[in-house]
Amino acid sequence: MNKDMKILVVADYDSVKDMLREILSVYEQVRYTTSSEVKKEIDRIGPDVVLLVQPEDGAGVELVQYIQGELPEGIVIYLTERQDFVLLRDVVRAGAVEYIVMPDELNLLSDRLDKISDLSLIKQRKKGADVSGKAFVRGRGKVYSFYSGKGGSGRTQLATGFAQALKLESTASVLLIDLNLQYGGVETFLSFENNRTLGDLMPVMDEINEFHIRNVAQRENYSKLEVLVSPRDAETAENMSEAFVTRLIRASRRSYDFVILDLPTHMNELTFAALSESDMIYYVMNLDTPSVQIYQLVEDLFKRLRIDTAGRLEVIVNQVGRDNELNVSDLKGLFNAPITAEISRDHQGVQAAVNQGRPLQKEPNEKKLSPAAKDIRKWVLKKLS
Ligand SMILES: Nc1ncnc2c1ncn2[C@@H]1O[C@H](COP(=O)(O)OP(=O)(O)OP(=O)(O)O)[C@@H](O)[C@H]1O
Ligand SMILES: [Mg+2]
Repeated sequence: MNKDMKILVVADYDSVKDMLREILSVYEQVRYTTSSEVKKEIDRIGPDVVLLVQPEDGAGVELVQYIQGELPEGIVIYLTERQDFVLLRDVVRAGAVEYIVMPDELNLLSDRLDKISDLSLIKQRKKGADVSGKAFVRGRGKVYSFYSGKGGSGRTQLATGFAQALKLESTASVLLIDLNLQYGGVETFLSFENNRTLGDLMPVMDEINEFHIRNVAQRENYSKLEVLVSPRDAETAENMSEAFVTRLIRASRRSYDFVILDLPTHMNELTFAALSESDMIYYVMNLDTPSVQIYQLVEDLFKRLRIDTAGRLEVIVNQVGRDNELNVSDLKGLFNAPITAEISRDHQGVQAAVNQGRPLQKEPNEKKLSPAAKDIRKWVLKKLS
């Protein structure tokens, strides 16, 4: 962490200042000013980051624009007590990189500052080299879909477990998106605090970017995995277009190293769009005859829809246990895609986690993992190696 990062707090109320003082105590160069004074001070202080608390006169958007004009390289984070999508959009358009609702999302602030300070360290180290800051920001992230033609096979369980382990066991940024728009699912396995959903991104569909996504994404408590939760609403689902799904995935891939999609079983234009955008499709299968029959229908359907699966379709066998109708070895040769992971049946571990509202894995290199969590972690480590 770069403790020397210069932070300027613009706040008109003492109560807010006190709250921020605590969070910012780890930073050595923090200055405070008010919205009426900031124009005089900004040039002299030349902060790396400005924390702009919604001013009393409400002229926040203009102030963001002013600060961005004065400090093109500066990073503006906007803090407000109101959850207001129109304001969020305007503030982000004006150049703020983050919109944080106080006090509920203040924990997010430390997280963001950590990341920004890391980035500013990299910039310092590379100073002089002919590289622009932007070059570090992001490349093209990978999109992995969890799909199956058969409900209840474990797509959500594995997608959440995979995303969680990936976030915990690497430094990569990971976004999990629940595209089961009508009924959702990931909230069963991970717990969240507010009710933002990916439906909140529909109004900004045409200009959707990293900051919109980060503001709507929820964070899993243990890993800080970011998750776009399903709206779980038939009407919102109806109104979502293929173009929206495509843009959402593309914007996500520009902003995160890994984007994990939990997909519904039914094939419609949205599922199709998501599969088409995927670098890898993990087909989740159980060891019984109906699962194999449905898999073969799906392979056919993929062909008819011209979804190119060469090198990007893998079968993940889930619920492997003693009393399966079939063995993994029975599947070999039945279909073209390789089987690349086997996950144990683990009623006890899964039930305990769900009942306690905690994820299967809570920390990196966790020692006492249940069998399914262990298998998922092993799979993720193989993927990362
Ligand atoms: N390896 C496993 N061991 C034990 N239970 C499991 C395992 N994988 C999944 N389950 C359980 O099976 C049930 C179905 O899993 P999940 O919800 O992930 O499937 P899905 O394919 O997403 O289903 P849906 O079609 O409802 O979206 C859940 O109760 C889940 O906890
Ligand atoms: Mg599901």
